[in-house]
Amino acid sequence: MKALILVGGFGTRLRPLTLSVPKPLVDFANKPMILHQIEALKAVGVTEVVLAINYQPEVMQSFLKEFEIKVGIKITCSQEKEPMGTAGPLALARELLVDGSGDPFFVLNSDVISEYPLRKLYEFHQKSKGEATILVTKVEEPSKYGVVVLDEATGQVQRFVEKPQVFVGNKINAGIYLLNPEVLDRIELRPTSIEKEVFPKIAAENKLFAMVLPGFWMDVGQPKDYITGLRLYLNSLRQKAPEALATGSHVVGNVLIDSTAEVRDGCLIGPDVTVGPGCVIEEGVRLSRCTILRGVRVKKHAHISGSIIGWHSTVGQWARVENMTVLGEDVHVSDEIYSNGGVVLPHKEIKANILSPTIIM
Ligand code: GDD
Ligand code: MG
Repeated sequence: MKALILVGGFGTRLRPLTLSVPKPLVDFANKPMILHQIEALKAVGVTEVVLAINYQPEVMQSFLKEFEIKVGIKITCSQEKEPMGTAGPLALARELLVDGSGDPFFVLNSDVISEYPLRKLYEFHQKSKGEATILVTKVEEPSKYGVVVLDEATGQVQRFVEKPQVFVGNKINAGIYLLNPEVLDRIELRPTSIEKEVFPKIAAENKLFAMVLPGFWMDVGQPKDYITGLRLYLNSLRQKAPEALATGSHVVGNVLIDSTAEVRDGCLIGPDVTVGPGCVIEEGVRLSRCTILRGVRVKKHAHISGSIIGWHSTVGQWARVENMTVLGEDVHVSDEIYSNGGVVLPHKEIKANILSPTIIM
């Protein structure tokens, strides 16, 4: 079986991290987001993944070889000359997706994190005999997603409304699909949206089905949701593979610490924290609800909560970093600085307090 991952989009909502790498390569729980997906696809028997790319292709390409070897799967790039939206890339990659077998193929948005119940999706699709099946999940704030109204008994989709202005329902498109090759006959080779132009038409012909996704789900394409997604992911890891989580008197709740990171004495870490490869967490540091990306140094007695610390940054001693602060790559926060929701572009030095949420250019 084959799969396509929609990798394009500029990832503006995850700046400043996406100023350094494309969104799918931003680490989530110590591994590039897209690697979580590629591994799940491999586990369900997918042998070839097509990445639909329109942004920073060189950076992506250099990672792909590494992933191919690591996961043992073929990865091909389908490169757009202009952004083709969420359906156009499928038309562009048609030759790569169709192999004459008639098999359906998976399509994934690259910024969604879940337990990827792809085997269940496949079985549901076989049973319902629809042309396309999408995974849906319940959310509190449906207006920023694609809302799906379905027949609870059969899963048949009655309506698909992308980013509705008025309340339509609270089940939303999770960005994970299984499509029959016939869907490709509906898509023209031009920039077009699968949510606005393709799904509503398949639904109108009663050939679109939806399965409610078991387990957690999050679109981690913006910092607040990234931090929430991390909590859900670590909680799921606690149920499924607790041995991966850190233990010890310095750990509170669910914490993931890379084996190459160094955590010195007197720290208190957790809940819902990830510490990436090569990080040094000096004495007496307090971390909660945050992600510390690869190569970061957090100096003595610093306190970080509800924030993301970009690759190879440093946080000075006794600094306090909180409230959705996002430091880009290679940012250096001086000793005793306070950051309340600062969003700091790469390669900056922060020598003055950031008292309220501000973008530091
Ligand atoms: N190749 C390519 N080209 N990919 C693209 C392009 C493009 O021009 N534009 C967007 N993408 C990719 C993004 O990288 C992402 O993986 C996916 O398509 C969806 O785009 P987002 O920009 O993240 O959309 P969204 O989050 O507002 O809404 C989508 O996801 C929701 C779930 O998170 C929709 O599919 C909604 O219906 C859905 O509920
Ligand atoms: Mg998204």
